[in-house]
Amino acid sequence: MKALICSRSGGPEVLQIAEVAPPQLGADEVKVRVRAVGLNRADLLQRSGFYPPPAGWDPHRLGLEYAGDVEEVGAHCVLRRPGDRIMGLVVGGACSEFITVPERETLPVPERLTHVQAAAIPEAFLTAFRALWGEGELASGDAVLIRVATASVGIAAIQLARLADHVVAGTGRDAARLDLLRDLGLDHPLIEGVPDMARRAQDALGGHAQVIIDLWGGGRLAENLSLLGEEGRLVVVGLLGGSRDTIDLAGLLMRRQSIRTLTMRSQPIERRVALVRRFERQILPVLAEGQLQMPVSRVYLMSNAAQAHHDMARGGHFGKLVLTWAE
Ligand SMILES: NC(=O)c1ccc[n+]([C@@H]2O[C@H](COP(=O)([O-])OP(=O)(O)OC[C@H]3O[C@@H](n4cnc5c(N)ncnc54)[C@H](OP(=O)(O)O)[C@@H]3O)[C@@H](O)[C@H]2O)c1
Repeated sequence: MKALICSRSGGPEVLQIAEVAPPQLGADEVKVRVRAVGLNRADLLQRSGFYPPPAGWDPHRLGLEYAGDVEEVGAHCVLRRPGDRIMGLVVGGACSEFITVPERETLPVPERLTHVQAAAIPEAFLTAFRALWGEGELASGDAVLIRVATASVGIAAIQLARLADHVVAGTGRDAARLDLLRDLGLDHPLIEGVPDMARRAQDALGGHAQVIIDLWGGGRLAENLSLLGEEGRLVVVGLLGGSRDTIDLAGLLMRRQSIRTLTMRSQPIERRVALVRRFERQILPVLAEGQLQMPVSRVYLMSNAAQAHHDMARGGHFGKLVLTWAE
């Protein structure tokens, strides 16, 4: 079968389609014919040699989320049948014609979604879901600030928090892209980099945020903590702006705030399964009704993956870039 591989660490030019051995099906696994794969910044980092997969996973094989059709099921499987359309996260190697995945980590694709639309869902929505109600411990009445709301995880987090009736403010660098978020439920768009951003954020939130979902990272830590209320939770999910920062711990201590982090890729299987099953119960029905969406910015053939990597690095997209095996 064919798979997208990076022959060595480097730029998009190291990507190539290669013949690889097909995966072996385990008793608790389903074999998936992959139709579409959502591209993630982690793929770009792995290709560059900066984000190796956990032990046991091939660093040359890329792809973290997929949508496809069940081809075959293992002897112990009870949830899925051949022909079912499914989607989900994997630790690596989604950019393959076939993959095998633990059955309990799969989600059914709602009827209204195409494979391409479905491949844009798992990483952004599962990450946002976990950040808000897992590490963020979002509780009734909490105001939420999403820093880089225009990123895919931000787009998902806005919709999920609004669905649960939270006041949501979200930032972005580009006014036009920020404006598009109004249609997805963002009441308070805030432009990054303007001098009175903090005051505007407080006006929008009616005080402090209780939860901040932070995709920016380095350079905004002190400001984020100043926008966070007592016992508030800052959840660091991404490092788009960099990984280094300095803060005075006194404020953190006096206001009993916490800084939490999450990584979707490196977590034990039982935690991954618990998240997926909770998502299936609480969020999938809403997705199936069409109340949640993830814009797909552009679709690329797998053979053109280098262009997709190049475009993601350049930025300027709104929503997901998706790779497919066939037009
Ligand atoms: N911890 C985890 O498990 C996990 C899971 C998923 C994602 N992430 C991380 O979360 C971040 C967002 O991922 P995503 O998939 O949502 O990204 P995305 O859809 O590719 O969106 C990123 C957007 O952020 C803005 N941006 C780019 N560089 C920036 C910078 N230096 N400073 C501020 N904004 C910048 C750009 O929008 P504008 O051009 O409009 O500003 C860009 O389009 C990434 O760092 C990703 O690796 C982490």
